[in-house]
Amino acid sequence: MKVLLTHIKELLQVRDAAPNLVSGKDMATLPTIKNAWLLLEGDRIADYGSMDTVPQHEVSETIDCSGKMVLPTWCDSHTHLVYAGNREQEFVDRIKGLSYQEIAQKGGGIVNSAKKLQNTPEEELYRQSAARLEEVMRLGTGAIEIKSGYGLTTEAELKMLRVAKKLAEKYPISVRTTFLGAHAIPSEYKGNKNGYMDLLCNEMLPKVASENLAEYVDVFCEEGYFSVEDTHRLLSEAASYHLIPKIHVNQFTALGGIAAGVQHNALSVDHLEVLTDADIAALQGSKTMPVALPSCSYFLSIPYTPGRKLIDAGLPLALATDYNPGSTPSGNMNFVVATACIKMKLTPEEAINAATLNGAYAMGLSSSHGSITKGKKANVIITKEIPSYGYLPYAFGSNLIDAVIINGEQL
Ligand code: NIG
Ligand code: FE
Repeated sequence: MKVLLTHIKELLQVRDAAPNLVSGKDMATLPTIKNAWLLLEGDRIADYGSMDTVPQHEVSETIDCSGKMVLPTWCDSHTHLVYAGNREQEFVDRIKGLSYQEIAQKGGGIVNSAKKLQNTPEEELYRQSAARLEEVMRLGTGAIEIKSGYGLTTEAELKMLRVAKKLAEKYPISVRTTFLGAHAIPSEYKGNKNGYMDLLCNEMLPKVASENLAEYVDVFCEEGYFSVEDTHRLLSEAASYHLIPKIHVNQFTALGGIAAGVQHNALSVDHLEVLTDADIAALQGSKTMPVALPSCSYFLSIPYTPGRKLIDAGLPLALATDYNPGSTPSGNMNFVVATACIKMKLTPEEAINAATLNGAYAMGLSSSHGSITKGKKANVIITKEIPSYGYLPYAFGSNLIDAVIINGEQL
């Protein structure tokens, strides 16, 4: 099956030899070809060029992209897309004046989602999650990371990960899974965090590993959740099962968790709404990707990750949605890209690099995703007719996507 896209107004993020990630000043460059063609063969990108070299041989399908942009699909490296029900009531409570932390202290928050999920049969959890996955694919996401962490019992954590693995089997999108049993201390372990840490290390981790349910391990390193010491313990244990860390850190307080993540070779450190100079220094020279989640800041009215400061310090930055029922009930990467430009002062080039190549890096997929490169996955977004790519974040409330192709198949 050969699909030829012709007369593309501008083909974005074209890299003959794509780097694994882009950092600092390099993030300001988005390589493009104007008036371009793109050939997809099966599930791979076969070739591309400018229209004066358009191939003349037979193809199965030609798509005229006059006036339209084509870019790689978004790489959403941080989601909690598998969850049960919603937390609309807490949203209303926050509007009326309670804070996110106050709600959590009253037994709401993550623990509330865990109760719902524990009582939801696996098939029903799959059904709800599949509907969300289909929605984000139509919004242009072509690779996604999905965490557990709303189970908080061995059985429910495994159920979440099985659902994520089943989604990976049934849908063309690439899925990476993360074990986030250390998301909150469940009610049964209130006042006995060490007891829960023992359960995580001695029972959950070995089962997740032996059933091959996750590539990554995560921990919510935050006051009232898990300490830097807990983080060290969990990540050391996880290393013996070859689970690579991607951690929640510095959402509300800077405890030194970023340095801990870097010390354990974390693939990414995510949130970073509160960031110290020592945190930035810890990231320098590391292979750890800082990940910002601007739609979480938007929804909770908390500070935005100082992305400008990270990039200006020469570091890379990735953008992801954090799709979850409590802090970000949205999996829309287009909104994330726009919000990064509007609120974090990233340029459109920086935001697109952060949401494609760097997002792919943050889930170990940069050799197959995140750029228009020969041999990479045939994953592209075809926009509606728009004047330029800067229009994508500019017209932040419009759906500017005309078509999405994932694994060579148009949705
Ligand atoms: O990334 N901060 C920790 N975990 C999720 C939200 C959890 C929830 O409120 O359900 C996050 O924002
Ligand atoms: Fe999260």
